[in-house]
Amino acid sequence: MSTTHRAPHDAAPHTPLPKAELHLHIEGTLEPELAFALAERNGIDLPYATPEELRSAYAFSDLQSFLDLYYRLTAVLQTEQDFADLAEAYLERAAAQGVRHAEIFFDPQAHTARGVDIGTVIRGLTSALDTSRERHGVSTGLILSFLRDLSAEDALRTLADAAPYLDRISAVGLDSAEVGHPPAKFTEVYAEAKRLGLRLVAHAGEEGPPSYITEALDLLGVERIDHGIRCLEDEALVARLVAEQIPLTVCPFSNVRLRCVDRLEEHPLPAMLAAGLLVTVNSDDPSYFGGYVEDNYRGLRTALGLTDDQLRLLARNSFKASFLDEDRRAELLAELDAHGPTG
Ligand code: ADE
Ligand code: ZN
Repeated sequence: MSTTHRAPHDAAPHTPLPKAELHLHIEGTLEPELAFALAERNGIDLPYATPEELRSAYAFSDLQSFLDLYYRLTAVLQTEQDFADLAEAYLERAAAQGVRHAEIFFDPQAHTARGVDIGTVIRGLTSALDTSRERHGVSTGLILSFLRDLSAEDALRTLADAAPYLDRISAVGLDSAEVGHPPAKFTEVYAEAKRLGLRLVAHAGEEGPPSYITEALDLLGVERIDHGIRCLEDEALVARLVAEQIPLTVCPFSNVRLRCVDRLEEHPLPAMLAAGLLVTVNSDDPSYFGGYVEDNYRGLRTALGLTDDQLRLLARNSFKASFLDEDRRAELLAELDAHGPTG
């Protein structure tokens, strides 16, 4: 018998709401323990003595200070098996957090720049994704994300290198250091991705100005904006995002850890919901930012007093904003409707 004490109203532990995760960098799920295991497997020296010491380096002052460590640690990812193990570890955790569908970013240029072939990356990731529905009940999509601090030519070359694997990729995205790298730089790349039948998303308005959101919509033709929290600085832009119901994949823990927002208690998510924006909640780089997606949902409830109805709306939005086919979307929305009280 369990000896854990629970308050009477807490007698039946609730399962997490079924939800989709639409903003998740697979490289950002590399937990320190796995980083050490892969480093040992591949004969790589990490400049930290233990996983705990590595974890204690996770104190970031901005996006760039995080990216420096994030890219440095990708060195441990070398073989197909490494990428498969990384994805499998995420999917197992995601399932435990109520994720029923995940659209997963990967950064091929972070690997090809180190001499790892793009085929190694994609075959490794898809080997875990292929059994995810069956093993974890999680359907998946892959989003090939270009590093915006590299050139448009590099992005075009990456898209060409991905040609043999396009049937495994649902969309392209744009990430890495935002300020000084506006979406306009990638107009031709996105036109090519669209011509190839890929869906389009882009990070915009995380650290960069609201005008980057407008550019991503008007010049790149994206269907979803990743982050987008700085839209609140431009009333006309908010009105447009509401009118067009453009989904925003917001990542509260990330925003706090990267100092885009001072404290979770001050996160603008309630204001975004009140404005009628189509907001979703996601984990971005959960290993680095203190939690996975359900941890973000729970954090919002604790820090901002979000109600069960608001959390349900966020989960509903996640399915609405996904690239799911209509049958699976309807199945997951029905599962959400049938789900008991939020935990
Ligand atoms: N790459 C991984 N996480 C990112 C983030 N939050 N913003 C931009 N690029 C990223
Ligand atoms: Zn991101």
